[in-house]
Amino acid sequence: MYTAAFMVTVGVIGWVTVLVVSDTLERQAQRGLENEASALVDEFKAGGRQDLEAALAGRFANPLTHIRYVLIGVDGRALLGDETLLPYGRDPAGSVASRGAGPRTAARALSDGSRLVVADDLADVRHVEAVIRRAFLIALVIAGALGLGTGSLLSTALLRRLDAITRTAEAVVAGDLTQRITHTGSKDEFDRLAVTLNRMLDRIDGLMVNLRQVSTDIAHDLRTPLSRLRQNLETTNRRAATLDDYRVAVEQAVEETDRILDIFSALLRIAQIEATTLRKGFHPVNLSELFHTVADAYAAPASDGGRTLAADITADVWVQADQDLLTQLFVNLVENALLHTPQRSTVTLELSVRDRSVVAAVCDDGPGIPATEREKVLRRFYRLERSRYGPGNGLGLSLAAAVAELHGGQLTLSDAQPGLRASIAFTRELIL
Ligand SMILES: Nc1ncnc2c1ncn2[C@@H]1O[C@H](COP(=O)(O)OP(=O)(O)O)[C@@H](O)[C@H]1O
Ligand SMILES: [Mg+2]
Repeated sequence: MYTAAFMVTVGVIGWVTVLVVSDTLERQAQRGLENEASALVDEFKAGGRQDLEAALAGRFANPLTHIRYVLIGVDGRALLGDETLLPYGRDPAGSVASRGAGPRTAARALSDGSRLVVADDLADVRHVEAVIRRAFLIALVIAGALGLGTGSLLSTALLRRLDAITRTAEAVVAGDLTQRITHTGSKDEFDRLAVTLNRMLDRIDGLMVNLRQVSTDIAHDLRTPLSRLRQNLETTNRRAATLDDYRVAVEQAVEETDRILDIFSALLRIAQIEATTLRKGFHPVNLSELFHTVADAYAAPASDGGRTLAADITADVWVQADQDLLTQLFVNLVENALLHTPQRSTVTLELSVRDRSVVAAVCDDGPGIPATEREKVLRRFYRLERSRYGPGNGLGLSLAAAVAELHGGQLTLSDAQPGLRASIAFTRELIL
């Protein structure tokens, strides 16, 4: 297509060029003829027939000229020069501006009744035209060959690369999520597309792995309380003797069921938060106040358990946030700090502002979490070996991480030396 368009353009330009050039040259030739005719007439006026003939003889002797002459007598016959020009002498008034096949001519009537015709076959002009035509023809052929050649090269290269993408996409559709598009490393559009698509596939793969992991975890972790429930009911059925035995058993069953329901609602909550991308429940929240509220609420339970709850809170820090979710996040962290530390530990709530960045943290001086486990505890149901049989369901940090992410931050677990420091830094755009 492009090649054809290009060739048509070259052709049109060639045609127009030939027209313009030959028109200009023909006008020039005509003017030259008129001048020549007038010069000869002047010659005649000055020195009569004799001088004119002498001048013409001089012209005939010049081998370089392409102008032909004829002097026509009163009887209409050629007195001198080229007889083939006789027909052009019939117009005594002047020139026959013959376009096309014939020569260009200029004619003059002389005072003695004879006529003079000067003619030019325009061989030069035709020659120039032919040269231009040939040049454009060659250009046309070269352009066509180049266009077709590069066009087909480009399109095969293009098709090959598109093919690579299509093949990978088909493999993925067929279920092989490990396939990736090979790229050449040339950093062109196709490579960028390939890299982006590969990143997308990585993300989908990650989500799929995560989903599979979560489903197995859920199945696995809900089995335990359910089998415990079933076991208890069965034992009661076999052993219970009195009405009181049954009442206790039913109470236990209700408790167990509540725990299971709690796990379900926590799971649903996490899924919901993770699926939320719109921060539509966000309002300005006084984070300092929220921290004080949590600190106040947990002061009594902390001291009951023999722990100290301290607070180091910068006043009047406002962020754009979901108040309920943020409260839940810090409650989870404080509960962890109270639950997974020995007595006489100190738990500190910190809220600090440094170069307009807000960091909220809950620290303790307990056993902490080993570096290798810090990423794993954020997973659903993952609990350290030592806390596996204590209270809790292993979902607290998962929920905290999801809430932190919704707020554009990341839940960071680090070593408080000793103990655990769990912190989130708020993104600038959310800080008021
Ligand atoms: N402050 C902490 N100090 C030590 N270990 C902790 C602390 N917070 C959490 N952990 C460990 O991380 C695990 C996951 O925490 P979480 O998701 O809240 O589950 P849960 O508290 O229900 O066990 C806990 O089981 C515990 O082993
Ligand atoms: Mg917890």
